[in-house]
Amino acid sequence: MKKSVFFASVLTFVYLMISCDDTIGTDAKDIVFPENNVSFQYHVHPFLKLNCSYVGCHSDESAAGGVVLTNYSTLFLSPGMVINGDPDKSRLIQVIENKLPHFTYFYRGNILENHKTGMRKWVAEGAINN
Ligand code: HEM
Repeated sequence: MKKSVFFASVLTFVYLMISCDDTIGTDAKDIVFPENNVSFQYHVHPFLKLNCSYVGCHSDESAAGGVVLTNYSTLFLSPGMVINGDPDKSRLIQVIENKLPHFTYFYRGNILENHKTGMRKWVAEGAINN
């Protein structure tokens, strides 16, 4: 009897973990930025969730380096993070393109060329909440 209760609670815990974190199973290749009209909701937000704002990093709770990258409004809390229309001056793009030192190591294998050009395009198009 006890064993089955134990397994049931483990399964419940795993199910809860999977259902609350929708980045699990998100493959970098599933995030494809278009050439124009980049969407915050469909392209930028999934990119940030997969690469930057997970637990221990730029999440609401951890706020690594004082930087939170969980939703549109948080991008504008840190000065110079996103300069509408100017990707070269935006620290977000500088880190993505490895042009600004990011002293803490993080896995960059999920940052594809399409993502780099797409993030740059989103800022160039005015960094709107679309
Ligand atoms: C593409 C994804 C990411 C972006 C765009 C990003 C962006 C940034 C930016 C703009 C800063 C401030 C740097 C400065 O102005 O000097 C920063 C700092 C920091 N980030 Fe990230 N970050 C990313 C991923 C991560 C991840 C995954 C982690 C956790 C492993 C992390 C941990 C930190 C920490 C600890 C700092 C403060 C110390 C430092 O500069 O390294 N970041 N990040």
